[in-house]
Amino acid sequence: MSQKTPIRVAVTGAAGQIGYSLLFPIAAGHVFGPDQPVILQLLELPVALNALQGVRMELDDCAFPLVQEIITTSDAETAFGDADLCLLVGSKPRGPGMLRADLIRENGPIFVGQGKAIDAAANQNTKVLVVGNPCNTNCLIAMNQAKRVNRRNFTAMTRLDQNRALSQLAAKAGCGVSDISKLGIWGNHSKTMYPDYTNAFIGEKRLTDVIDDHAWLDGDFISTVQQRGKAIIDARGKSSAASAAWAAIDHAADWHRPTADGEWVSMAVPSDGSYGIPEGLIFSFPCTVDADGEYQIVQGIELDEKARARVQTTCDELTSERDTVKDLLG
Ligand code: NAD
Ligand code: LMR
Repeated sequence: MSQKTPIRVAVTGAAGQIGYSLLFPIAAGHVFGPDQPVILQLLELPVALNALQGVRMELDDCAFPLVQEIITTSDAETAFGDADLCLLVGSKPRGPGMLRADLIRENGPIFVGQGKAIDAAANQNTKVLVVGNPCNTNCLIAMNQAKRVNRRNFTAMTRLDQNRALSQLAAKAGCGVSDISKLGIWGNHSKTMYPDYTNAFIGEKRLTDVIDDHAWLDGDFISTVQQRGKAIIDARGKSSAASAAWAAIDHAADWHRPTADGEWVSMAVPSDGSYGIPEGLIFSFPCTVDADGEYQIVQGIELDEKARARVQTTCDELTSERDTVKDLLG
């Protein structure tokens, strides 16, 4: 067994659909690498603690060498105690016919309590990833409740949108997903998000020179990515789970190590005013991560008039979501 100090990972909603797909790759070393021990601190509602015991038994049965301890609890401060990474998944998913924003008044209050519990108990340098929807605004709520933790450490997940976009583009271009770089997701994890293909590359070439069906790029491509969550709910009767868990693994892993040269990762982070987005709004930007695990919003990206209008639309939606939860912002 490695001598490294274990990293404490808190996961909320750990017995849910996403939780079930998320815990095993973390335990296997997919986020922090093959020689980094972890302690899993799993939070569930009291009613789901029995199911969580079942998940815990399965984790035990995998005999993961990197797992030093598993804590299961319905007490948020216990779950977040000294946590280095908090994955906030626990919340209600939408069903058929709903928008993610319809969840805002039901799920928002969860993130008041959890923001406060993170403030009270987590490592001061903890990193937070909010997955529960509507994730940008839930993240805004948690961040505002956790005054002790650096606001920069609060992020929400748009990595699933990035992965969805890459898969659509690779299929259209007939290339591998890893041939595509600089595909950025802008704004809200909602049907207004903007997957910016105009700055993307396939190998050394501009993506728009390789994919010459510009009507598809500006039409079906964007709407497919924007509506993919709904399409999955319509097909499965339940919201995406394994792909969401995998995106959370990608997000957390990419936040832990330097971004490769020429690559971007999309993360919804507190705006610092870049690109005219109001400061503090949790907005997805193309980012890079440095050797200290700090992200930077990529600067100087050129957005044409159409792209700027799309960015404005998603920004307006987030501003309006913020107004809806004003009373939850502490
Ligand atoms: P699920 O219903 O299967 O699981 C949610 C779990 O959270 C349940 O076990 C529930 O008991 C638990 N929970 C609820 N409130 C809690 C609380 N206050 N504290 C601790 N645990 C709590 O749902 P799921 O499919 O795992 O989805 C979870 C969330 O993730 C939903 O809001 C969904 O919309 C969202 N989601 C986001 C993305 C994204 O890309 N950002 C993708 C997929 C799903
Ligand atoms: C998704 O994008 O699949 C999730 O946010 C679930 C949803 O409600 O769309």
